[in-house]
Amino acid sequence: MKILVVYYSMYGHVHRMAEAVADGAREVKGAEVLMRRVPETLPEDVLGKMGALEAQKRFVHVPVCTQEELASADAIIFGTPTRFGNMCGQMRQFLDATGGLWARGALVGKVGGVFTSSGTQHGGQESTILSFHITLLHHGMIVVGLPYAFQGQMRTDEVSGGSPYGASTIAGTSGERTPTENELAGARFQGRHIAEITARLTA
Ligand SMILES: Cc1cc2nc3c(=O)[nH]c(=O)nc-3n(C[C@H](O)[C@H](O)[C@H](O)COP(=O)(O)O)c2cc1C
Repeated sequence: MKILVVYYSMYGHVHRMAEAVADGAREVKGAEVLMRRVPETLPEDVLGKMGALEAQKRFVHVPVCTQEELASADAIIFGTPTRFGNMCGQMRQFLDATGGLWARGALVGKVGGVFTSSGTQHGGQESTILSFHITLLHHGMIVVGLPYAFQGQMRTDEVSGGSPYGASTIAGTSGERTPTENELAGARFQGRHIAEITARLTA
């Protein structure tokens, strides 16, 4: 059972969440979990001006995802930062290159899920995840979120990401916040949950 965690991260928040999603998926017997990035589309000088180059050193070693890896996975869990309430352009461009996979129904019946990060608490995490789901549905994927069985999303005693649509973290307007233990627990739960469902489907 192959579980692919595919993400874009500019400052490291989505990367940290991706690690937690992968850890959760690895808890399921028989899961082979791969972490992959989508290609960067911004020139280095722009990334420099955005203050991203130092942070990106932490995950530049993660291999870039290939179309074949998408086709051979049993489940694909996508991570993206929120950009104006949507997925980031890097992820959009990556997905827009999957027309060939769509044409041959290569992703039909695979399990899919989405997690995200935003700068602010109400900055569009849910719209990012839900609008991302549209692409997964066009590919014929089986969309899985983060059920309330993850009780951490009921918490009101601290600021926290996480919704029925998927795990998330709040990065802060300057990226000063790091994913909290509760947000990471949501990410691990989603990874494990998707791997468990995939295990049943592939049995
Ligand atoms: C062009 C742009 C648009 C953004 N749009 C939003 C937004 O709509 N809502 C929000 O809360 N944060 C927004 N952000 C902040 C990012 O979501 C935040 O930097 C990201 O979640 C951090 O994740 P990363 O460290 O993995 O890159 C935006 C950032 C950029 C650069």
